[in-house]
Amino acid sequence: MSTPASGTTHQIESRHPGWPARPGALRVPAGVVALRPVRLRDAGEWSRLRLRDRVYLERWEPTAPGAWDERNSITAWLPQWSSLRRLGRQGLCLPFAITVDGVFAGQITLGNVIRASLRSAWVGYWVSSELAGKGVATAAVAMAVDHAFGEAGLHRVEATVRPENGASLRVLAKAGFREEGLFLRYLDVAGAWRDHLCFAVTAEEVEDGLCARLVRSGRAEHA
Ligand SMILES: CC(C)(COP(=O)(O)OP(=O)(O)OC[C@H]1O[C@@H](n2cnc3c(N)ncnc32)[C@H](O)[C@@H]1OP(=O)(O)O)[C@@H](O)C(=O)NCCC(=O)NCCS
Repeated sequence: MSTPASGTTHQIESRHPGWPARPGALRVPAGVVALRPVRLRDAGEWSRLRLRDRVYLERWEPTAPGAWDERNSITAWLPQWSSLRRLGRQGLCLPFAITVDGVFAGQITLGNVIRASLRSAWVGYWVSSELAGKGVATAAVAMAVDHAFGEAGLHRVEATVRPENGASLRVLAKAGFREEGLFLRYLDVAGAWRDHLCFAVTAEEVEDGLCARLVRSGRAEHA
């Protein structure tokens, strides 16, 4: 029988289903969208995009201590990446970088992974403002959800969005999420408790997958 200490080590070192992973790519108007695990060397692009896109990102993101420029400096990436990598290794999170034509363009994370009889996660994402409106987030959500229901063995993916976030609502509609209800004062975002609409999709609803559905609708091609 293993001791608690060796059990803990085993848990940290083990891989959970579907991680690490590089789900298949889709071509959209912006270019070829692909997902891969976040890397330490994403620091430069991650920081450059997030410092430039402060106005576009900050009002939709959870409130956090410290100034935006400090939280999004190149050196701030190391603890964030390290925490995401640890959560990935523990099976609690699938932290993907979104790339377009091979270049870092944002992040999509399947977080709060719970297994046993729930087998659920939330999905969260952001995309560089330079690429806005060119199908990147919708393709990334479709790839992440297909991966969640495939290799990762999950059953339900949830997304919570402020009712004012028209672009994100549109992404979820295009990807095929279903609205479930309104969570009042749900999350501390941009300095206040904000209502959020809850959307979800379960494995039974996606038939041959959200990527295949996007391709059929003419919004993407298999790359
Ligand atoms: C939300 C976000 C990820 C969308 O990324 P994207 O790559 O531009 O998404 P897509 O191109 O796949 O789809 C965006 C859709 O929203 C539409 N849209 C953009 N702004 C909109 C607005 N204010 N109101 C309604 N629709 C809007 C676009 O026209 C497009 O729809 P279409 O294809 O029917 O024309 C991006 O805007 C972002 O990173 N925002 C800041 C962070 C954020 O809000 N994250 C999500 C938190 S829940």
